[in-house]
Amino acid sequence: MTANRTEEVGFFKSGIKAMDLSLPEGIPRNSFVLVSGEGGTGKSVLITQLIYERLKAGEPCVLVCLDDSPLGIMQQLTSFGWFPEPYLKKNLLHFIDCYSFRMNPDESSIPDYVTYVKSPTDLDSLQAKIIDVVDKLGLRNRGAIFIDSITELWFLNLKEPYATVEYVKTWRAEFSKERLVPVFCSHHYGMKVFEIYEELLEYIVDGIVDLRYEPNLMKVGLLVKQFRIRKMKGVHHDSNWVAFTITGEGIDLLKIKMKPPEKTESEE
Ligand SMILES: Nc1ncnc2c1ncn2[C@@H]1O[C@H](COP(=O)(O)OP(=O)(O)OP(=O)(O)O)[C@@H](O)[C@H]1O
Ligand SMILES: [Mg+2]
Repeated sequence: MTANRTEEVGFFKSGIKAMDLSLPEGIPRNSFVLVSGEGGTGKSVLITQLIYERLKAGEPCVLVCLDDSPLGIMQQLTSFGWFPEPYLKKNLLHFIDCYSFRMNPDESSIPDYVTYVKSPTDLDSLQAKIIDVVDKLGLRNRGAIFIDSITELWFLNLKEPYATVEYVKTWRAEFSKERLVPVFCSHHYGMKVFEIYEELLEYIVDGIVDLRYEPNLMKVGLLVKQFRIRKMKGVHHDSNWVAFTITGEGIDLLKIKMKPPEKTESEE
């Protein structure tokens, strides 16, 4: 059943102060959002923090992990003081593990909160597994899905990256539009081999959060992280670049301390 849900669509605040300032009305629940940026700009930290904020709000979260193992992600959460255990116990957090196949794990020791994907190149099977988990955790007009990262899915399906783009269209329809479950998907920006698919992806999605290093400061060797909301359908948003830092408590606005100008002789 696919209805015209325009009037039912709710909004939610990301819970990340720096980001909510750029999105004062929140994010529509029927959004598929791309988190795009170069390596190390903070895509995974942003996704981790978004997950924790949804969990704190009592919403179930599903993370399709391609770049790291569930254990690695739990360590990342814990490093910020965001302890996942209570949410795992309440069945509010579930990992779809598309990473560990590289290590050929002992499948009998996989915990309940992990769905192991033996061959993530089989996109039909991956899709079925996501739907199964989404239904089990009751994601419908609540909760969120996270994919970190789509770039890795492209690498896995190198012979046919376009197939992955088609799946993004399906996931947007199936999860964001039909179930009103937002999807946040990270994407490693600027890989020449995927340029045309990148353009297609940017056109398909509802929202784009760009992350980068401030280019002028980068020229003099300083790495200052910035984000901007390039696109977010259905809401007003500020699309200016915002400088941020990653502290032990997550993403925060970068407060630059300016030295007051020194007084000239005539002012003294
Ligand atoms: N626990 C932490 N405390 C403070 N800073 C952290 C912490 N974890 C990560 N960072 C910062 O975040 C940066 C890495 O960010 P992240 O892993 O989110 O990048 P990414 O954009 O996902 O990169 P990639 O494309 O390689 O996946 C680190 O270089 C570090 O500056
Ligand atoms: Mg990452």
